[in-house]
Amino acid sequence: MSVAASESHTDDRAVGRVVSSLIDGQPVAPQSSEPSASYNPSRLQERVALARVGDEQTFVDAARAARAAQRGWAATPAPRRGRAIQQIGRIVEANKESLARLIVREIGKPLVEARGEVQEVIDTCDFFLGEGRRLYGQTVPSEMPDKQLFTFRVPVGVAAIVTAGNFPVAVPAWYLVPALLCGNSVVWKPAEYTPAIADAFTRLFLAGGLAPGVLNMVLCDGPATERGLQAALAGGFVDKVGFTGSTDVGARIGELCGRHLQSPCLELGGKNPLVVMPDAHLELAVEGALFSGFGTAGQRCTSLGTAIVHAAVHDEFLSMFARATQQAPIGDPMHAVLYGPMMSRRFAARFERWLELIRDHHTVHGSSATGRISRANPRAGFVGDPEQGLFYHPTIVAGVGADDELYKTETFGPIVGVARFETFDQAIELANGHGYGLSAAIYTSDPGDAFRFRERVTAGMVSVNNSTSGAEAHLPFGGNGRSGNGSRLSGVWVLDQFTRWQAVNWDFAGMLQKAQMDIEDVQAQLDFRLEG
Ligand code: UN1
Repeated sequence: MSVAASESHTDDRAVGRVVSSLIDGQPVAPQSSEPSASYNPSRLQERVALARVGDEQTFVDAARAARAAQRGWAATPAPRRGRAIQQIGRIVEANKESLARLIVREIGKPLVEARGEVQEVIDTCDFFLGEGRRLYGQTVPSEMPDKQLFTFRVPVGVAAIVTAGNFPVAVPAWYLVPALLCGNSVVWKPAEYTPAIADAFTRLFLAGGLAPGVLNMVLCDGPATERGLQAALAGGFVDKVGFTGSTDVGARIGELCGRHLQSPCLELGGKNPLVVMPDAHLELAVEGALFSGFGTAGQRCTSLGTAIVHAAVHDEFLSMFARATQQAPIGDPMHAVLYGPMMSRRFAARFERWLELIRDHHTVHGSSATGRISRANPRAGFVGDPEQGLFYHPTIVAGVGADDELYKTETFGPIVGVARFETFDQAIELANGHGYGLSAAIYTSDPGDAFRFRERVTAGMVSVNNSTSGAEAHLPFGGNGRSGNGSRLSGVWVLDQFTRWQAVNWDFAGMLQKAQMDIEDVQAQLDFRLEG
């Protein structure tokens, strides 16, 4: 059955799907709750879903349900948990098109990107289904006879996962899939502006064979989430927090978790640099800047922040980048466009404020105007009717320097800064100076510069001759500094987020052998020297 064809939920085009939190596999919502609506950002008059939003108690109830289900899930043999992940992957694959179309409807991501995002979920399931048959521990030799040492990975317990909506299924999957595979139960709090996607995605997971309570989804707003998380941590119902979102909220979550002696997994913002060396393949660099600067309307944490371009090629790069941006189709995300609308009114309003960071010493390129695209403020070649949605002009801002607010601020939208450098040291200074450290790219044909860049850039992810976006699903994903606390998602690296090492020693000597004390030393002739 496809997501769109589900019978358990109203799917009336006029009203929108009615969705609720899912706890123990059942829809729940406080009687008093005011329903909140999500709208198609390409066609604002079209309601996508009506969400019966929960409150902090809903969050706590979900955490309790997760706690109750966790022991049974952890006792399920890991290969069987892997089988559930395999089935989830197959079910998502069978629903790929309807889920991708729902993503286009609810957040306006172009269809090709939405399909790619669902593929990332499938890839993540494919990677972890086999981990259920590994989850390796080690056997370690003991310093004493008749004694054996081991390590085991044990699940952490209940994971509370709070995610943004710009990757409304891929990023949640980066947490949910390994957390579940490792034997944790989960409370997932998706973004408020993606309730229909969150409902569909949770039901796809539940269809994979998870017992009730193993995965719970809570629809509530940010303040209720913070209060709910606080209460759930205080009540002892949450053992691990994963959060993808803004640096400010991440810092607050880190502080809260610290009080409970927990170290959360924090994936925060970025101001990702793309350095163009004088020997770069300029067409390739422009293509990379276009994709990472404006793909998803610049609303990725890996979006290009500032192109840092060597003086020798600066003017040529800028004019090529400006031309490519001018010519790029923008508009209806069901068509082949570079990008569609902003994801919601909140993101559009915030983007308008960031446009105010443009100063007199800057020059602006890439479109016929800045701000919202409309009949009065048109863009040539716009695909569709701009009046219907939250569409914004792409904006390239040249002349950016280290003192500009624009250089230091994460601007989640279709705006890219361009800065000029003379020496490699200046390029590194500009690449690191804002304090974020998520993703960084360099375009060069000199392997020496590529390695020097890798060594000195503070980012957790580095691309050589590829853009700042587009991480593959099985490499460690994460940042440093203002971009995160060093935790990594994806691949084998994320296992350390969702398991803890248990060290076991087994003594079969039949007597107490004391480490470091009951040890026979090796007799050596330490004054031995070769003759002559
Ligand atoms: C994000 O924006 O939070 O590497 C994640 C990329 C995507 C994931 C971005 N695969 O750009």
